[in-house]
Amino acid sequence: MSSQQFDVAVIGAGAAGMMCAAVAGQRGRSVVLIDHATRLAEKIRISGGGRCNFTNAGAGPQHYLSQNPHFCRSALSRYTPQDFIGLVKRHRIGFHEKHKGQLFCDDSAEDIIAMLKAECDAGHVAWRMPCSVAQVGKSGDLFRIDTSAGEILASSVVIATGGLSIPKIGATDFAYRIAKQFGLKVVETRPGLVPLTFDGRGWEPFVDLAGIALQVEVETGAKKERGYFLEDLLFTHRGLSGPAILQISSFWQLSTPLTLNLLPGVDLAEALIAGKGTIKKSLGNILAQWLPSRLAEGWLKVNGFDTGARIADMPDKALRQLGDSLNRWVVLPSGSEGYRKAEVTLGGIDTRELSQQSMMAAKVPGLHFIGEATDVTGWLGGYNFQWAWASGVAAGSAV
Ligand code: FDA
Repeated sequence: MSSQQFDVAVIGAGAAGMMCAAVAGQRGRSVVLIDHATRLAEKIRISGGGRCNFTNAGAGPQHYLSQNPHFCRSALSRYTPQDFIGLVKRHRIGFHEKHKGQLFCDDSAEDIIAMLKAECDAGHVAWRMPCSVAQVGKSGDLFRIDTSAGEILASSVVIATGGLSIPKIGATDFAYRIAKQFGLKVVETRPGLVPLTFDGRGWEPFVDLAGIALQVEVETGAKKERGYFLEDLLFTHRGLSGPAILQISSFWQLSTPLTLNLLPGVDLAEALIAGKGTIKKSLGNILAQWLPSRLAEGWLKVNGFDTGARIADMPDKALRQLGDSLNRWVVLPSGSEGYRKAEVTLGGIDTRELSQQSMMAAKVPGLHFIGEATDVTGWLGGYNFQWAWASGVAAGSAV
C-alpha cells in the first residue's frame, strides 16, 4: 500500500481530536483523523446521562487540577465557554443550565457529535476509522504513522486519545506510550471523579443506608491540596458516591480521611441541647426534621442511640457526641471504583513539556498532545469538555 501524506494527523476522534481537526481543516490544512473505535465519540454520547454537559458557563483555571496549575490558563482564555456556546447556537442545538453553570443539551449528546462531525466536514477532514495505529515514528521533518489503513505521513501529529477511564468503550494508554517513546515525562495517573469504596467489614453497618441521598459538605487535605464541596452525597452498597464524592475523589489521596458534614448549616449538638426543655419528640423524630427518615433511624442505630429516647433525658455529653457524629463524620475510604467507573483520569502528559500556545512538545517539534491525555483535569460539571475544546482549538490553530 502506498503512503498517504497530510499536513496534520490527529489520532483520537473524541471531543478534543474532532475540535482540533475541524479548526485545522478550516484553516486550509490537509487533515486526517484516525480512531480505532467502531462508533464515533462514544464518551460524548454517554456523557451527562446522554445529554452531554458540554461546558460550564463559569469555567476558569481554578476549576482544574494539574501539577502545573497555570498551564491551562492560556488555552482556556483564548477559547472560552462563550465561544463554544456560540458554536452550539450556530448549529441550533437547544440547551439549558441545570446547576451551577452546567450546560446540557435539551435533546441528546448526539447533537454535539453531529455538530463536531459537520465542523470536520466543513474543514474537509479525511477519516480513517476504525483504524488502529501500530507505531508512530519520525524521520527528518515527517512523522510516519503505521496504521491498519496503511502508512500515513504527516508534518504534525496531534495525540488526542484521552485517558484510561472506561476501558470497555476503547480507552487506552496510547498517549502515555507515545510520550515516553519520544522522551517526554508523564505525571502518574489515577482515576478521578469516581465513587469511593470502603473495606467490606467496616462498611457493613452502613450497607442498609444504600440509596439515600442528601446534600453535604465534604472536605479533605490541607492548604494547597485541600478540596471542599457542598454537593449531594449518595450512600451505595460499597461506599459513597454522588457529586460530592466524585468531586472530592479527585483531591483524595490514599490513607487520607474525608470529613463530611451531613447537616450543613445546623449545629446539631447546640440545637439538641437548646431544645432539651421544650422539644418532646423522640430522637428519631427530631433528626427526621433535617435528615431523610431512613438515614435518621439508621444513623442512630449505627451509633448506638435509642431512636425512641427523649432528649430531655439524655446527658449533654451524649447529645454532643451525636451532633459531632453528623456534623463531623470522619471516614477513611479504602479505595475507589477505579477506571471502570471513573469519569476522568488524573495526571497524564506532563504539561511542563508542552507549549501553552500550541500544545506542542518542546523537545519534539510537530508533536502535540491535547484533551484528557494531558495532566489537566477538570472538576465535575462540564469543565473537562471545556478543556477538550480549548486545548483542541489551541493545537488546531497552530498546526
Ligand atoms: P475522548 O476519550 O473523548 O476521546 C479519545 C478518543 O481516542 C476516543 O474516540 C478513542 O476511541 C480514541 N482512542 C483511544 N485510544 C486509541 C488508540 N490506541 N488508537 C486510536 N484511537 C484511540 N465531561 C464533561 O465535561 N461533561 C460531562 O457531562 C461528562 N460526562 C462524562 C460521563 C462519563 C460516563 C465519562 C466516562 C466521562 C464524562 N466526562 C464529562 C469526561 C469527558 O468525557 C472527557 O474528559 C472527554 O471526553 C475527554 O476528551 P478527549 O477528546 O481528550 O478524549
